[in-house]
Amino acid sequence: MDITKTNEIADARKIVESRVGDKGLNLLINNAGVLTWQGFPDITEENMLLHFSTNTVGPVMVLKEMLSLLQKSAAQKDSGMDISRAAVLNISSSGGSISALPREASKGFLAAMGYGTSKAALNMAMKVVALTLIGQGILVVNMCPGWVKTDMGTDQAQLTLSESISAMLKTLFQLNESHHGAFLDRNGKPIPY
Ligand SMILES: NC(=O)c1ccc[n+]([C@@H]2O[C@H](COP(=O)([O-])OP(=O)(O)OC[C@H]3O[C@@H](n4cnc5c(N)ncnc54)[C@H](OP(=O)(O)O)[C@@H]3O)[C@@H](O)[C@H]2O)c1
Repeated sequence: MDITKTNEIADARKIVESRVGDKGLNLLINNAGVLTWQGFPDITEENMLLHFSTNTVGPVMVLKEMLSLLQKSAAQKDSGMDISRAAVLNISSSGGSISALPREASKGFLAAMGYGTSKAALNMAMKVVALTLIGQGILVVNMCPGWVKTDMGTDQAQLTLSESISAMLKTLFQLNESHHGAFLDRNGKPIPY
């Protein structure tokens, strides 16, 4: 699906619903993201909105559509929060950390303005969702995968796909209610918002 298109998200939900049936959905991973470099004052409205619609609004709309399936899975256990009950993992970025942005950040890094802004907004949106859903047994976590060799991360990145993904999977299985609403690195260490 294209996560900026409401009708495609709804179609995806129908497919997932028919697969998971009465068990519901125990894990939603919001991974899709875009990064187009453009710093201030060159930044355009189009650049800002592209990041915002894909990196912030899209994941919220996907979660909204999948919520009833997550609730169905969560309802099958009485207590606890973990990925075997119901969880939402949002692939965020340390580039969205406002408090970790150094004063001496390079102009190159600052050119990820639309991206960083949209990931900070994603973190806030999902923290609000986490607090709103408290008591429903659906764990909501934001996680940075590290700097990874993908199309976005480029060949210059520090981590291979398998290094990043295996670390995130290890962390994923250790998540519990103490991590609800948190912003973590791939090893489970908190990143400041
Ligand atoms: N790589 C890094 O170093 C790094 C660091 C921090 C965070 N992240 C985050 O990790 C996640 C994955 O990024 P990546 O490194 O794998 O980037 P990538 O290589 O550029 O891949 C991005 C993925 O997102 C999909 N996508 C983009 N727009 C979409 C849309 N509107 N609807 C559905 N899918 C869409 C792309 O699908 P198509 O191929 O079909 O376009 C592609 O599969 C992103 O959220 C990114 O912000 C990555």
